[in-house]
Amino acid sequence: MLFNSKLAYFAAIASLALAQEQSAIAPEDSHVVKLSQDSFEEFLKENELFLAEFFAPWCGHCKTLAPHYVEAAKTLHEEYEIPIAQIDCTENQELCMEQGIRGYPTLKVFKKNGELVSDYQGQRSKDAIVQFMVKQSLPAVSEFTDLESFNEFLTKQKDNVIISQYFAGEDSKQLNETFYNVAENLRDEYVFVNYLGDDEVKSHNISVLTPSQDPIAFDSEVSEDASLKESSEALSDFIAVESKPYFGEIDGSTYELYMNADIPLAYFFYQSEDEREQYLPLFNKLGKEYRGKLNFAGLDASKYGKHAENLNLQEQFPLFAIHELESNLKFGPEQIPAEEFTEETVVELKESAIEEFVEKYLNKELTPITKSEEIPEVQESNVIKVVGKTHDEIRFDENKDVLIKYYAPWCGHCKKMAPLYETLADIYALDDEAKEKITIGKIDGTLNDVFGIEITGYPTLALYPAGDLSKEPIIYQGKRTLESFLDFIKENGAHGIDGAQILADNTPVEEEEVEEEIEEEVPEQDEL
Ligand SMILES: *[C@@H]1O[C@H](CO)[C@@H](O)[C@H](O)[C@H]1NC(C)=O
Ligand SMILES: *[C@@H]1O[C@H](CO)[C@@H](O)[C@H](O)[C@H]1NC(C)=O
Repeated sequence: MLFNSKLAYFAAIASLALAQEQSAIAPEDSHVVKLSQDSFEEFLKENELFLAEFFAPWCGHCKTLAPHYVEAAKTLHEEYEIPIAQIDCTENQELCMEQGIRGYPTLKVFKKNGELVSDYQGQRSKDAIVQFMVKQSLPAVSEFTDLESFNEFLTKQKDNVIISQYFAGEDSKQLNETFYNVAENLRDEYVFVNYLGDDEVKSHNISVLTPSQDPIAFDSEVSEDASLKESSEALSDFIAVESKPYFGEIDGSTYELYMNADIPLAYFFYQSEDEREQYLPLFNKLGKEYRGKLNFAGLDASKYGKHAENLNLQEQFPLFAIHELESNLKFGPEQIPAEEFTEETVVELKESAIEEFVEKYLNKELTPITKSEEIPEVQESNVIKVVGKTHDEIRFDENKDVLIKYYAPWCGHCKKMAPLYETLADIYALDDEAKEKITIGKIDGTLNDVFGIEITGYPTLALYPAGDLSKEPIIYQGKRTLESFLDFIKENGAHGIDGAQILADNTPVEEEEVEEEIEEEVPEQDEL
C-alpha cells in the first residue's frame, strides 16, 4: 500500500482524539455474548453466522473497540438477529490457541456453522462492523420479483452503497453476467440487488445508489462488446468512483479509502459544523464537476488539524489543500506568516478563490509546496548532506553512481549504522578516480520532501546507478556490513567500483575496520 506511513501518522492523531479509559469487557447487560472454552462449540453449531472478538482485558485497542462493539451488537441483535460474541483469551487460552489468535483484538467471522472462518479486517467502528456483518448475511446478490419488497429492502439498506440492477430480459445477458461477477468480488463492500420483475422495467440498467446522491447509471454500452473480464473491470471502476460522496468526510474510518484512491485528494479543514455547512454547496458542486479527477473531503480541524503539517502547511483554518498521493506533491494557498498569525487572526477563504485554485491545479499552473533544509554551504564529511532542494540534482547525476541513505534523527537503527556509513564514504574518498564516479549521500527524511521514491521505514538505502536516469532506484536489502555494502555497489553500480580493492590497495591499518561490522541478521527498520 502506498503511503502507509501517512496512514500510521493519521491513525496516531485519530486515536489521540479518541483515547479514554474504558473496559475491554462488554457490560453484562449488553448484547455481546460471552463465550468460553465450554460454550464455544455449541454456539458454533447453533449459529449460521456470527462475529467473535478474541481479546485480553489489558489490551488498549480492545478498550478502544469496546463501546463500538457493544453498539454494533445491539443493532445487529435487534435489527438483524446476527449474534456477536467475545472471548477473553486470558481465561480461555486453549481455545484462543486453537483459533490461531496472535494479537488482540482479533475479530473473526464464522459462517456456515463454523465451516467458513475469516478475519474481519475492516474499520473497528460500529457502522463498519454492522454494515459488514449485514453484507455477510446477504447472498452476493439479493433478488426481488415484486416492487414493494424491493423498495422495502432499499430503504432498510439506505446507509450502504447499493448497486442495483434492473433486468430487462434476454437481450442483455452479457451485462447481467458482468453484474453477478462483480457482485461476487465486491460483496464485502457493497450491497448488490437485482430487480427481476418486469412490470416497471423499461430498460436494463445498473446504478449506484449512495446515501446522499442521486442514483447514477452505468453506461451499459461500455460493456456491450467487451469480454467479461474487461466489462467487470469497467463496472468495478465505475462503482469505485461513483460510490464516493461528492464531498466526503475524512476520519479514522475513511482515510484509507481516500489514501488508496488513484486520484488526488482535495481537503477542506473546517472549524465547526456551521463552517462545513457553509461551504457544502460549493464542494458538492466541485465534487460533481471533477468526479474521477479529484476527490473532495472535509476534515474536522479540531480533531485532525495537525494533519496540516503533513501537507507542509501551517495550522491556519479554514484551510484548503490538494495532495497528489501518487507523487506526494502538495498544493496549498498562500498562508499568513507564522509570526503574524495569532488566535484572533481571521483566515479568509473565498469560495471563488477555492474554485480558481482547483482550476489552476488541474491546468498544472501551481507549484507544489516542498519542504527542504537549506543547502549546506560546506560538506562536513565524505558523506554528502543532501536536502530536498538538491535531492533530484544529486541522485540524477548521470556520471555518478549515487547511494543515498534516507534517515530520521530519532531512528535507532540509523544511528547504529552511521559510523559504518562514514567509513564506506571514506573508502571511496581514498581513490581519486573512484571519487569522481560515486557519491555517498544522506538525507534527513523528516525535514525534506523527496519524490519518486517510496520510503516506508528508516533507514532506507537507495542506489541510483549512473547513466540511465529513468531506471528505478535499487533498494539495498542486505546485511548492514561494510563488506556487503561494498559488494552491493560493485555489483549494482554502473561503474562497478571495487571498494574492497581500494581498501586493500591503501593503508593496511584500515583493514581493521572491516572487522567492525554491525552484526545484524535481518536489517530492521524503524517505522516512520
Ligand atoms: C443473470 O446471471 C446470473 C449469474 O450468472 C444467473 O444466475 C441468472 O440466471 C442470470 N439471469 C438471467 C435472467 O439470465
Ligand atoms: C433504471 O431502470 C428503472 C426501471 O426502468 C428505473 O425506474 C430507474 O429510474 C432507472 N435508473 C436510472 C438511474 O436510470
